[in-house]
Formats: sequence, C-alpha cells, structure tokens
Amino acid sequence: MPLENASFPHTHLLGIEGLKEDEITQILDVADQYVKQNRRTNKKKDLLGGLTQINLFFENSTRTRMSFELAGKRLGADVINMSTSSSSIKKGETLIDTASTLNAMRPDLLVVRHGSSGAVKLLSRKVDCAVLNAGDGKHEHPTQALLDALTIRRRKKRIERLTVAICGDVLHSRVARSNIHLLNIMGARVRVIGPPTLIPSGVEKMGVEVFYNMEEGLKDCDIIMMLRLQTERMHGGYFPTVSEYFSLYGLDYEKLSHAKEDALIMHPGPMNRGVEIDAAVADDLTRSAIQEQVEMGVAVRMACLDILTRSKRGDQK
Ligand code: NCD
Repeated sequence: MPLENASFPHTHLLGIEGLKEDEITQILDVADQYVKQNRRTNKKKDLLGGLTQINLFFENSTRTRMSFELAGKRLGADVINMSTSSSSIKKGETLIDTASTLNAMRPDLLVVRHGSSGAVKLLSRKVDCAVLNAGDGKHEHPTQALLDALTIRRRKKRIERLTVAICGDVLHSRVARSNIHLLNIMGARVRVIGPPTLIPSGVEKMGVEVFYNMEEGLKDCDIIMMLRLQTERMHGGYFPTVSEYFSLYGLDYEKLSHAKEDALIMHPGPMNRGVEIDAAVADDLTRSAIQEQVEMGVAVRMACLDILTRSKRGDQK
C-alpha cells in the first residue's frame, strides 16, 4: 500500500512503548518525504485544511512547541497555542476541566506537554480527538525519539545493530526512556552512562547496559546522545558540583576519542555548554548532528499529524 494511505492502528501518540517496528518505520518513511517538502521554497501542503490543532504546553519549550506549530501550519491546519500562564489554569482549573473545555471546541489534534508522568494519557481519555504527547514528566517524549531515529537512520543508513550511548541524567529524562524503547524495538544496542545517582535503579530491565564511566561506556559507540541535567526535576543533591560533573561526564574531545572515529554526537536541546557538553564539541559540524535533529523534528511532527488524522480525513471524502 502506498505510504500516503497506509493506516495506523493507534488513535493517539502517547509513547513509543507499545509501538511496533513497522509502525515506527512507517512514521520515519513518511517523515523522510516531509524533509524534502520542507527544503523546498513552498513548504505548504493543504492536507489538514479545515482541521484544528491545539498546542497545550504546561511546561516550557522552544523546539518542541515551535516545531509542532510549524508542522501543523505547513500541513494547512488551523493551529492555536494555548499558554498556560495566561489561561484559567492559573485560576485553579483542573487538567480534566481544561480538557473538557478544549474538547467542547472540537479540536482534531491536541498536542500536550505536562510536568506529570501519565497526565497526557489521562487527558487523552477525556477528549474525542487525537492526542500527541509532547513530553510528560519523566515518562515519555515520543516525537523526540522519532526525530532522533530519523536523524540516525539518515546519517548511518540503519538503526539495527548500532551501539548507542545515552549519557548523563537518565533518571529524570523522558527523552532517554522514549529512546531506550525505540532503539530496542529497532534492534540497536543501548548503553546508559552516568553517575549512579542519575541512573534509575533496575534500568537494565529495559534492555540497556549500564556504565558509570564515560571512557568505558563510549568505547566503540556509533551514536552518543547527551542529556541535560534536569535540575527542575531534582530535589536534593545528585552530584557535588557542576565542574566536577563536567570533568567526569561532560563530553569533550578527550572522552569522545574513546568512541568510534565516526561516532555521531546528538543532544535534544536545550544544551548547557560546559555542563554536559563542551562548547567546541557541540559546535563541531563534522561530529555533531544537533542542528539536524531540529530540522528532523519538524518533519517527524508533520508525519505524526498526517498519520494520526488519516482515518478522519478518509471519512470526509
Ligand atoms: C527535552 C525535554 O523537554 O524533555 N527537550 C526537548 O524536548 N527538546 C530535553 C530537556 O529538556 O532537557
């Protein structure tokens, strides 16, 4: 069946856990087509004409919110951004009441970021439209893992059998969790590297190898994903000082020399230079795919909006 018409068996995109290999491949294949569209002067396609997309972000965001907005607009949807700082949420309205209010306005797509794990799933049960998780607490950030996968697949021509190291604050990272699920489903070998305080206990059960030392963990890696220290989710001391953290876990050229010569450096952003990554390494275009990840983010989000509205658009024909 041509990609444009292939159906997708899920109503929402709440996480990577539970997706099948061919469903992930379908999203990446469609996203590849949108990369082409986005590189043209005319980036618009009237696929979602008449549909309404609401972006509801309870947590800060630059890349994710903007790329969901661009993705919806490039596909012709009416896109509304709801700012939680100026809405009735500040007047004490509950998440469920906000969901019911938005639902009454009959949106077709709801993109939600929330600080609590599970909040997006809860909200998805209260509305009639497709819900996309743009990050829920420490739980999942599915479109980030998909855009990372697209970046890796385009650079390395495959995901299967690559060795990927996810480094730093794995404990508080929804990016790490979604990536661990996706990379395992796609047949990569996954390692996590960080101080013992920032590695979740029992993470081996998710199918990863654990390292507490960067030099050992980076050995023979094809992909290095660096993570920000999520201090907003930390209550207590997880590491002595920033400079000590950087000297042990910050990615600099010395640590990078232990990975494969062509190892690709990735980071979901926002970066903290001199904390988890050395500025020169981050800016090294021969090694880093950080800007490319942002480009892939728009294409992947277009693919997700497209795929999740297929049955609805089919009904209208
Ligand atoms: C990540 C997030 O929000 O989980 N950022 C992003 O979406 N690009 C990672 C982070 O905030 O460190």
